[in-house]
Amino acid sequence: METRILIVGGAGYIGSHVNKYLNDHGYKTVILDDLSYGHEASVQWGDFVQGDMADGQLLDKIFTKYKIIAVFHLSAFIAVGESVQKPGMYYSNNVAKTVSLLEAMVRNKVDNFVFSSTCAIMGDPEYLPIDEKHPRNPINPYGWSKFMVEQILKDFKKAHNLNSVVLRYFNASGADPSATIGEKHHPETHLIPLVLDAAIGRRESISVFGTDYDTPDGTCVRDYIHVNDLAQAHLLSLEWMLKNQACNDFNLGNGTGFSVKELIEVVKSVTNKDVTVVESGRRDGDAGTLIGASNKAHEVLGWKPKFDSLEVIIKTAWDWHQDMSFKSS
Ligand SMILES: NC(=O)c1ccc[n+]([C@@H]2O[C@H](COP(=O)([O-])OP(=O)(O)OC[C@H]3O[C@@H](n4cnc5c(N)ncnc54)[C@H](O)[C@@H]3O)[C@@H](O)[C@H]2O)c1
Repeated sequence: METRILIVGGAGYIGSHVNKYLNDHGYKTVILDDLSYGHEASVQWGDFVQGDMADGQLLDKIFTKYKIIAVFHLSAFIAVGESVQKPGMYYSNNVAKTVSLLEAMVRNKVDNFVFSSTCAIMGDPEYLPIDEKHPRNPINPYGWSKFMVEQILKDFKKAHNLNSVVLRYFNASGADPSATIGEKHHPETHLIPLVLDAAIGRRESISVFGTDYDTPDGTCVRDYIHVNDLAQAHLLSLEWMLKNQACNDFNLGNGTGFSVKELIEVVKSVTNKDVTVVESGRRDGDAGTLIGASNKAHEVLGWKPKFDSLEVIIKTAWDWHQDMSFKSS
């Protein structure tokens, strides 16, 4: 039986790019996604199974049918504001259901796990750039849900010798240069697709929340990392884990911050379109500046982001965004 990687959440934005990247690099995949937010049309590689990550019987079937060497977990609810309104929904899906998935792995003796975490577990930064040693201080249930799973993974290593690599993304962005898959969330809460929507005329304007932060132009500063560079980190993490049979954690960003206003200017220049900006007050829970230190991933994994210019990242997003229909590869 050939080996496979199980990508849970592989019909989503980042999961579909990880799936394409693995298949482009000679790995075979199985995708499990309940399509609560993902798109079946974005699963253009590997075998697709529709279902819930907490469905133990379904997981037992998958682990029996395929020789799974690792599980990549990208199946979470991701809207920070909603997590504040509906914490139970977030702890149930992001924490409790992840535990069920881990139990199914232990039961079926699958012992390699890559987990999509987030810089949101660090809360308001105490220093910049944010490295792996930064104190954890989540400020919303979404961030807490990821932090809890990080702890659970430590406990599963001790109790069951389950290896895991935790990858903390900064702002995932861009699309595969083939423009066959891209970012399509419902509702969309991420800045780049929202600004592109404003550029293309799908929305009237873009709201800028807060112009009085302690940043050069007063708007929030973020670190944008291309989704294919995140996919590369997943593959390197798998190889590291198979070789070392251990656990590790890495922050994944480009190490450069761009303000909301700077980003809007780059969108205008890449798309050659104007964007109407509406300035509003700060939103609760938005830190002023989030920039990641990824030296550890460079040194330990040999991770080298290929998309280090915001222009190029936005160009790939724009190439997908103008049409946003799933085309066959
Ligand atoms: N997008 C970002 O900038 C960002 C930043 C940091 C971390 N992350 C993490 O990366 C991961 C992927 O994010 P995304 O932007 O691709 O989100 P997404 O919503 O596009 O993808 C998540 C996928 O998981 C599926 N899913 C959710 N609950 C499920 C369940 N119980 N069983 C099976 N499938 C389920 C959804 O249908 C969806 O296809 C998430 O864990 C998110 O927390 C994302």
